[in-house]
Amino acid sequence: MSSDLATQAISAPRTLEFPADFLFGSATAAYQVEGAAAEGGRAPSVWDTFAHTPGKVHAGDTGDVACDHFHRFREDVALMKRLNLKVYRFSVSWSRVMPDGVTVNPEGLQFYSDLVDELLAAGILPWLTQYHWDLPQALEDAGGWANRRTAELFADYAVVLHEALGDRVRHWTTLNEPWCAAFLGYANGHHAPGRTSPEDALAAAHHLLLGHGLAVAQLRRRDPELELGLTLNFTDYRPADPASPGDVDAARRLDGSFNRFFAGAIFDGAYPEDVLEDQAGLWREGLVQPGDLKIISTPIDVLGVNFYTGELLTGVEPERAAQAAAAARAQGAPNPNVGSEHVTSVPRGLPATSMGWEVFPQGLHDLLLRLHREYTGGAGVALYVTENGAAYPDAPDPAGFVQDDERLSYIREHLHAVHRAKEAGADVRGYFVWSLLDNFEWAFGYDRRFGIVRVDYDTLARTPKASAHWYAQVAATGVVD
Ligand code: FCB
Repeated sequence: MSSDLATQAISAPRTLEFPADFLFGSATAAYQVEGAAAEGGRAPSVWDTFAHTPGKVHAGDTGDVACDHFHRFREDVALMKRLNLKVYRFSVSWSRVMPDGVTVNPEGLQFYSDLVDELLAAGILPWLTQYHWDLPQALEDAGGWANRRTAELFADYAVVLHEALGDRVRHWTTLNEPWCAAFLGYANGHHAPGRTSPEDALAAAHHLLLGHGLAVAQLRRRDPELELGLTLNFTDYRPADPASPGDVDAARRLDGSFNRFFAGAIFDGAYPEDVLEDQAGLWREGLVQPGDLKIISTPIDVLGVNFYTGELLTGVEPERAAQAAAAARAQGAPNPNVGSEHVTSVPRGLPATSMGWEVFPQGLHDLLLRLHREYTGGAGVALYVTENGAAYPDAPDPAGFVQDDERLSYIREHLHAVHRAKEAGADVRGYFVWSLLDNFEWAFGYDRRFGIVRVDYDTLARTPKASAHWYAQVAATGVVD
């Protein structure tokens, strides 16, 4: 092949086609979009408390108003319909439907019932996430996720939701990203409730998973036909220098505590041995009770995959790692990588989003195939990319329109990666862009914009960006240029 032809073959745009039943949608989460924090009987969650604590969230931003989705959901559903979206992944605010975590608030449930009706009337599939990090503050006051009782209450909460919505909602995700809830919430305090205890973080991780298993069992019992699962977040970790034993160990460690910890518990019914070794001494006596892993690994139908980035890692030789981790834990800043606090990441020089996350679509391709091969394929569990997207510094024109070429190409490249993974055999059935709207990006407040639709936070006006127009075509035709 002449060099000209070779270049052409690589750079020639390829048009891809997804099957007609592939679900294109978007995702949001309650605290990030709803607002109406004190309306309709809603009580504070840990995120209300955290955001109202000075110094925790960028610029003192809170979710008090957010995108005002609570009042504008009909407008937002109409917008989704205009964008040809087939499915909407939203989360329920536990403290809206059960303000103290225990007592039902019918007015709160009504909001979600109305939202579901509105979606169905628009021909959009409602995909419910039970928990996207906003624990009722009353439950945090009783010990939060470090308290085993929270897991039991989580299953009761699932039943309450199913009673109200189970006749119309077929897709149920128990947890969103338990890694973040446990390790950012309880180990490094970057997220609510802002605790900095490695032991609490491991307790929280275990109880979150236990709550998931208990909820799945309840939901399954009530309706065997539901599509049940959870959403995990995955990062592609590789050694900075594949020839360095320290770097190889670093990648093994974070792949273990971030990725395999959760997938192993869910699909193998066991926490990976090597991860338990890395975390030795940090698990509280009696935390894992007989039968817990069996509950946690209750069969599911769907694994939600959230993917944003990959990281190259560096560490120290395996023989010195435990000591280095302990020293970093004792002396360093609070760290979410419990048991591997000495590991650091090394930029690989790829373009990065405004989160500082390197753009690495190959990682999504490899991940989907790996999950299919090592966990989901054999179990007959379907994969859905439940979040993927990017924050960039948008520059709106006077009419509020954003020509967000970088976001558009981020989404396009990741859809190419999904398509290639599907072709290679991964059973991926849908893709949800994060996010429908610019929204409250946790500790970064309103500073980071992930939406394909711009939200003007002064007027709350919504303006689809270039990426939304492009994505609407993809959703309508299944064709990605
Ligand atoms: C994920 C969260 C989601 C959003 C994106 C950017 O970790 O699930 O709420 O913040 O990151």
